[in-house]
Amino acid sequence: MADYVLAIDQGTTSTRAIIFDGTGSPVARGQLEHEQIFPRAGWVEHDPNEIWQNTREVIGQALAKADLTRHDIAAIGITNQRETAVVWDKRTGEPVYNAIVWQDTRTQPIVDRLAADGGIERFKDIVGLPLATYFSGTKIVWILENVDGARDRAEAGDLLFGTTDTWILWNLTGGVDGGVHATDVTNASRTMFMDLETLSWREDILEAFGVPLSMMPEIRSSSEVYGHAESSSLLRETPIAGILGDQQAATFGQAAFERGEAKNTYGTGNFLIFNTDTEIVRSKNGLLTTVGYKLGDEPAHYALEGSIAVTGSLVQWLRDNLGIISEASEVQALAESVEDNGGAYFVPAFSGLFAPYWRSDARGALVGLTRFVNKGHIARAVLESTAYQTREVLDAVNADSGVPLTELKVDGGMTSNEVLMQFQADILQVPVVRPVVPETTALGAAYAAGLAVGFWSGLDDLSKNWQEDRRWEPRMDPAESERLLRNWKKAVTKTFDWVD
Ligand code: G3P
Repeated sequence: MADYVLAIDQGTTSTRAIIFDGTGSPVARGQLEHEQIFPRAGWVEHDPNEIWQNTREVIGQALAKADLTRHDIAAIGITNQRETAVVWDKRTGEPVYNAIVWQDTRTQPIVDRLAADGGIERFKDIVGLPLATYFSGTKIVWILENVDGARDRAEAGDLLFGTTDTWILWNLTGGVDGGVHATDVTNASRTMFMDLETLSWREDILEAFGVPLSMMPEIRSSSEVYGHAESSSLLRETPIAGILGDQQAATFGQAAFERGEAKNTYGTGNFLIFNTDTEIVRSKNGLLTTVGYKLGDEPAHYALEGSIAVTGSLVQWLRDNLGIISEASEVQALAESVEDNGGAYFVPAFSGLFAPYWRSDARGALVGLTRFVNKGHIARAVLESTAYQTREVLDAVNADSGVPLTELKVDGGMTSNEVLMQFQADILQVPVVRPVVPETTALGAAYAAGLAVGFWSGLDDLSKNWQEDRRWEPRMDPAESERLLRNWKKAVTKTFDWVD
């Protein structure tokens, strides 16, 4: 009897495999980081072969730690960094170029070219997204235009595109020997090419971008059997039965199944997702419209999303580029060494600004500096920037939905940072709540897979697993919170118009 579900979480900085039991509790994990490749300013790449190799290894690590075999695993779920684009040759399985990561801004000239006719909202009513370097579409175009011979090979039908869920699914199900080339609706909704209403590729938009339809994976639901792990794999013959983009997976793992429920994940970036049920809500306040999940043949559930490019990765930058901390976890003690931000504000517009501004011309700024400011204040400004950005996204969600959120469910690595979580509640002026199982992303993918094979019987089964761990109530005087936010907004304006 298979008593567990295994989730593969292919994230921006690492790949993890986590095995969950029927109560949604993690029993074992494997994790490996992969190289972040920065060939030029603004460029961010990953090696798809390294990611696939790491995926196989972390599956082995997790199974070994739990002392389990494939017979104990009822299904596999996949969740992934979204938008990161891989293009490979279906005859050899070799990527034609490194994966171009969601944070990469090299495609700005392609965005400008497409926006010249109709502006950045040209396709927004259909796909829910503005034209921006963030999404996969322009990354595929860049590969077709810049890799020798790629366009001819694509037009001959030899090249395949996928986000990293698709790359892993194709390899896990056999690769060149009949690998399944598919993705789910949530990942497809991050390309710029999927019609939110029909949940199918828009040939006219693909044509406007110059991307052949033959490269695109089949769009499937988030919870169904896509295929089985191939014969040489440790999990051979195990069904792969769930795929969700990582932010949608975290929402699912937080059991935010109802209209009006929301979660905010603190990863390399922050992503606030607000469930709008089966309604497609078009944002008037800088949010994205995206698919939340689709279970088999049931109707799709949609969401509004506030995406913030740089939050946790700013702490890594403090460690790797400035060296003022040697471990990311040290940022908390450094921030606690001072009373407040000392007047300093750090706007980390390293990839431009995403929601709610969508300013690709923005670049980072540290403002409000005086001789008084020390590295403690800078650490504080780093943490505070995450909270202010989240507040601006929450304000947009409240404006779009008309019903203010009364609390915010949170998850992700930075939720272990007490200073940040208390400040977050202070700046939002609503309670911030963290569940017992912090690995909501992997859990969401496990849930989607488990539902498809009958391991869990339905959403009620999953909701019962959610339990509160910590709650931070706002303690700051609302007037002080508003004063800080005003200063933050002033700082944001200093980041505009930095690209020649
Ligand atoms: O949209 C990008 C997002 O999916 C990446 O998430 O957690 O891998 O940084 P994460």
